[in-house]
Amino acid sequence: MDRYEIGYSSGTARDARLRAFPAGSRAGAVSTHTQRVSIPALRWVDPPEGPAIALLDQTRLPDAETVVTCRAVPALVDAVARLVVRGAPLLGIAGAFGVALAAHRDDDVRGAAAAIERARPTAVNLGWGARRALGAYLRALQADGPDAKRQAARAAVTEALTIAAEDAAASAAMAEHGLALVPHEARVLTHCNTGALVSAGEGTAFAVILAAHRAGRLARLWVDETRPLLQGARLTAYEAGRAGLPHALLTDSAAASLLAAGEVDIVLTGADRIAADGSVANKVGTYGLAVLAHHHGVPFVVAAPVSTIDFAAGGRRDIKVEQRPDEEVTSFAGTPVAPPGSAAHNPAFDVTQAALVTALVTERGIARPVNAGTLHDLGTGRWPREGAPTDVSMER
Ligand code: MRU
Repeated sequence: MDRYEIGYSSGTARDARLRAFPAGSRAGAVSTHTQRVSIPALRWVDPPEGPAIALLDQTRLPDAETVVTCRAVPALVDAVARLVVRGAPLLGIAGAFGVALAAHRDDDVRGAAAAIERARPTAVNLGWGARRALGAYLRALQADGPDAKRQAARAAVTEALTIAAEDAAASAAMAEHGLALVPHEARVLTHCNTGALVSAGEGTAFAVILAAHRAGRLARLWVDETRPLLQGARLTAYEAGRAGLPHALLTDSAAASLLAAGEVDIVLTGADRIAADGSVANKVGTYGLAVLAHHHGVPFVVAAPVSTIDFAAGGRRDIKVEQRPDEEVTSFAGTPVAPPGSAAHNPAFDVTQAALVTALVTERGIARPVNAGTLHDLGTGRWPREGAPTDVSMER
């Protein structure tokens, strides 16, 4: 049986790259990680034990490391909707493996890809990953023969592994590029969770933060708790603690006075979807941080792979913001905190206009300023631009 493991480790970026490949494969063994937990964020399981996708249940972290095994696409769709598996890059990988799962089961593969994409509407990587695997499946299916379906299912798995390997490489490259933007003795504020739990590598913004820590530049990481589902408190603090980062947790509403007090040198977040004009959709609360950072003259930097840029979305109006159940706001860790029947407003994300984003760190380099022109050049591979500034000063 082959097992392909994605995430969680606080090892090096090279270690992370290896995790996308089966043990004993050409890419190397998976035994070189430091501080691995026993359960990876995502694991593909081949027949006969599978086909299945084994997910570290992120809803139960940090209390328990348990696995949710998805043996059919409806179970994966449910896991995505409940945030068992979450975060833009990992959703792309999960979406691709979901298509591979449907293909292995000889289910309606196109229908499965569509259902996966619908599970969460904002994170662009989810549908992108599912469509990539679907494309690989359909191309392989064109080869006639008795074994065509099995080969096509394998092609979908291979595509999912390719996406994972690309994501690990992108994560390492973002860390390298983004480090140039982090000042010495940096006090970094971050929001939501952007580390190895959401990536085949070390993540997006968190990969940059880890690089800063390894370079001796991180004085402190401020971790927003990230209401209502506490991805910051439950997951980022968990990852920061395991990686030995000097960090402190704060309520989301404490960020304003922290910035006013001059206690933050740079705000670093990830993204779930970036429109062609540079509008950034990310976990709700990000927009507020961007406005605050602007007001206080602090750089607001977004780290995301190019796959998170949706060139089909012209601007913020083209980004659908996921609305989540009222109970996530009216209760806290399962305990009601509002009168029965209270209505709630619970958008999972908000959208920050490009003018508030100081720089966008991608695997191809840093876009600054962030606008339709720089994003277009990033997307078409014309990067770094001729004559682009090479300095890394961060004046707004
Ligand atoms: O609702 P979530 O937990 O999936 O939201 C995740 C985020 O908003 C992350 O900041 C984002 O995916 C960017 S980096 C992984």
